[in-house]
Amino acid sequence: MRQKIVAGNWKMNNDLKESLKLISEVANMVTDEVNNDAVIIVAVPFTNIYALDQWKSGSEVHDKVKLAAQNCSWEESGAYTGEVSARMLKSIGADYVILGHSERRQYFAETNAQLAKKVDLALTHELIPIFCIGETLSEREKGIHFEVIKGQLKEGLFHLIKSVFRTVVIAYEPVWAIGTGLTATPEQAQEVHAYIRQLIAEGYDEETAESMSILYGGSANPSNASALFSQTDIDGGLIGGASLKSRDFTDIIKTFNA
Ligand code: PGA
Repeated sequence: MRQKIVAGNWKMNNDLKESLKLISEVANMVTDEVNNDAVIIVAVPFTNIYALDQWKSGSEVHDKVKLAAQNCSWEESGAYTGEVSARMLKSIGADYVILGHSERRQYFAETNAQLAKKVDLALTHELIPIFCIGETLSEREKGIHFEVIKGQLKEGLFHLIKSVFRTVVIAYEPVWAIGTGLTATPEQAQEVHAYIRQLIAEGYDEETAESMSILYGGSANPSNASALFSQTDIDGGLIGGASLKSRDFTDIIKTFNA
């Protein structure tokens, strides 16, 4: 059974106080209003993970929200000034890590080869990668988006053995839809999600393809979430802007309510 997942990507927003306020609001709203079993994740700045984990500990209500980092180093440890390793993140309470977000690929020149190393280290330290793939506007206009997605998936993830690969979460985020208000239509998103599942079936097998959670990201909000999430191959969302507002984020999670 594929897991339903709604993950918020706070990006470089919220200092410690703001983070605690937002996660408390989300946890309270989720407790009162959400009656589905979607996994709820927030990917927060490195600096806030430890405190949010402390806030979570010992409370069933608080533990409804899982923590993710937004990046990790491709090295285990050593002389890499400014970097944060997968092992460190695990030790302060992260359960997931976003890898390959288009902003990392674009502004920090992350390559598929580096991302494959990050994926390996994350998995070694029991962090579940939320691996992002997606084409730019010009790649879509040139009609090469399927090729781009295939390359990102193969070079970033397909080296994993099947039992490990199955634990990864994939997020399809068309770059032209991120933070632009230009959401992919449910049909456009479904077409790519089905393609990703087909690539997994070819690279591994049908059963593996059916077991994987594939999230959509890119200007998802409470008004378009249900049309997107009701598509056959869309298992939830990676939510940027709308995850910074507790009301909107909870409403998106509620899309999965009965
Ligand atoms: P957005 O961001 O929802 O603000 O478009 C999504 C993301 O970057 O993960």
